[in-house]
Amino acid sequence: MAVHQTLVPGATDAPKPRALPAHCYTDPTILDAEMSAIFARSWQLVGHVSQVSEPGQILTAVVGDEPVFVVNDNGQIRAFFNVCQHRGHELFPQQTAGGDVAETPGFIMCPYHAWVYRLDGRLASARSRDVGEVCLAPVAVDQLAGLLFVNVDPGAPPLAEHAPGVAEEVLAIVPEAGTRVLTWRRTQLIDANWKIAVENYNECYHCPNVHLSFTSGVVDPASYRIKPEGTVIRHTATGVEGERSRYARPVDSDAYAAFYIWPASSIQCYPGQALNTYRWVPRGPDQTLLVREWWFDGPEPTDVQRAIIDLDWNTTVSEDLKLVESTQRGVRSRGYRPGPLVTEPSGIASVHSEDAVAHLGTLLRSALGPAWPAEAR
Ligand code: FES
Ligand SMILES: [Fe+2]
Repeated sequence: MAVHQTLVPGATDAPKPRALPAHCYTDPTILDAEMSAIFARSWQLVGHVSQVSEPGQILTAVVGDEPVFVVNDNGQIRAFFNVCQHRGHELFPQQTAGGDVAETPGFIMCPYHAWVYRLDGRLASARSRDVGEVCLAPVAVDQLAGLLFVNVDPGAPPLAEHAPGVAEEVLAIVPEAGTRVLTWRRTQLIDANWKIAVENYNECYHCPNVHLSFTSGVVDPASYRIKPEGTVIRHTATGVEGERSRYARPVDSDAYAAFYIWPASSIQCYPGQALNTYRWVPRGPDQTLLVREWWFDGPEPTDVQRAIIDLDWNTTVSEDLKLVESTQRGVRSRGYRPGPLVTEPSGIASVHSEDAVAHLGTLLRSALGPAWPAEAR
């Protein structure tokens, strides 16, 4: 018997978006492909210009799997791979991927054989031997409302094209963003693939039943919207009115916004002009380093600032850590079949849908090309 389909006006044959195949979160070959196709070619947050405001200051970071550093060369901000061009020793120790700051005495000496580089990257001396012209490998560096980004692909489009409008929007909420300093940092190794972490970050479908503090005392959940636009995913909401806030506001402002910048950075403006950032650094198919930083007006948090930071870490962040680690364990199971994603025709998510998760899948598919698993095309 023939089955007749009823055609709904406006309906399309486009397949409904689904969660990614489980092995995308566990397969080392997928992570290798992501490192080459995504992390080695995209802008990623590493810190703030205030960390390299003085000549000779150095900021180290790991973006994807690449060690890099940013240096103030007499007022010029430069960035290089953190790799000596002799036999490859790291020039600065990478104690964490979180961004360590160091001072140089005006030059950079490799700890291995004591080759010395100028701050513009050119080799100054190889222990009195002539070894010819040698220069550190440069990486692109740029800033957005004072926040520093690097891109290890020197041919990449400018940061302003990767995150159009974000600098202006951050500055509209936090006018002093460009002069803020690092007030607090915490790093946390998460037992989950980086995509599980950023998918969780970019949906608030879980907020009403998980983030009770966030949805009662930080933002109004009914107003939460997540709008994917190319390589930026914008989160907007109305902050709860001052008297309902779970924390005292450092500045009298209800404005809230978050800007996720593909693939592994996000800038958040919490009510009270509380500027904070997320970075995700993949450490393996099922491990990711979370770097959580808050940017206020001094290096030590005031009591008011500390209360916001603690509330966020002890509620929203800790709640999400449990979710993503549990999800990683679940997708590893032979019993998991990727399910349908809940989306809206508008493509804009509220607390009742997860449209940006589908958008992240589209970004992944287009970045990986032929390396993308056939069953997820
Ligand atoms: S590896 Fe740096 S001086 Fe030899
Ligand atoms: Fe969450």
